[in-house]
Amino acid sequence: MLSQQDLKQQAADAALQYIAPMLTSDAVIGVGTGSTADLFIDGLAKFRGKFRGAVASSERSAKRLTDLGILVLDLNEVQTMPVYVDGADEINAQLHMIKGGGGALTREKIVASVAKEFVCIADESKLVDVLGRFPLPIEVLPIAREAVARMATSLGGSPALRVGFVTDNGNQIIDVSGLSINDACALELALNNVPGVVTNGLFAIHPADVALLATQSGIRRL
Ligand code: 5RP
Repeated sequence: MLSQQDLKQQAADAALQYIAPMLTSDAVIGVGTGSTADLFIDGLAKFRGKFRGAVASSERSAKRLTDLGILVLDLNEVQTMPVYVDGADEINAQLHMIKGGGGALTREKIVASVAKEFVCIADESKLVDVLGRFPLPIEVLPIAREAVARMATSLGGSPALRVGFVTDNGNQIIDVSGLSINDACALELALNNVPGVVTNGLFAIHPADVALLATQSGIRRL
């Protein structure tokens, strides 16, 4: 019986195998945030010198990349990336995701938007029929915290401030539980339009292109 850690390692290894043909001397790789992304970063170090560098979706991932001797570029220096690799908190069969458990959702969405392909890596426990069991993270400007929380309540959710947490962008996170998300694109769009919302953790308008999900019997590719 493989542990969850083993499964995360398996997903990270599968992603490294998947992206290996994309590694050229001028290629810049988009790198996500979280425990699964950490394993991907560690593996990426073996390919050091075979690609130009990486754009990170958080200060935490940037430090891990730098410590391993991988050049970290500012997104503003990069016009295109062949691929962005990241984990997810939930993913459904349409490859819509909830992300942001690690609080890096805004930079994750921005970096992913510049990459040609989004590869989601996770263990199979993240695959769900309907998104919403995992509380939906919303990054808010501090001034809008209470207003956004009231709006989330009006949508049927239960908002909770992530206490003591400040994002890399200096903002706060509200985690909204109790939402049954049947139309993820519509909710993502609606939340994007609420004043004070920086980003919400739904990745549905631009879903993953490929999911490499680790199972007890190997990698399941969606
Ligand atoms: C961070 C994220 C992560 O991808 C998500 O939380 C999954 O993390 P892990 O790989 O540790 O399960 O969105 O903001």
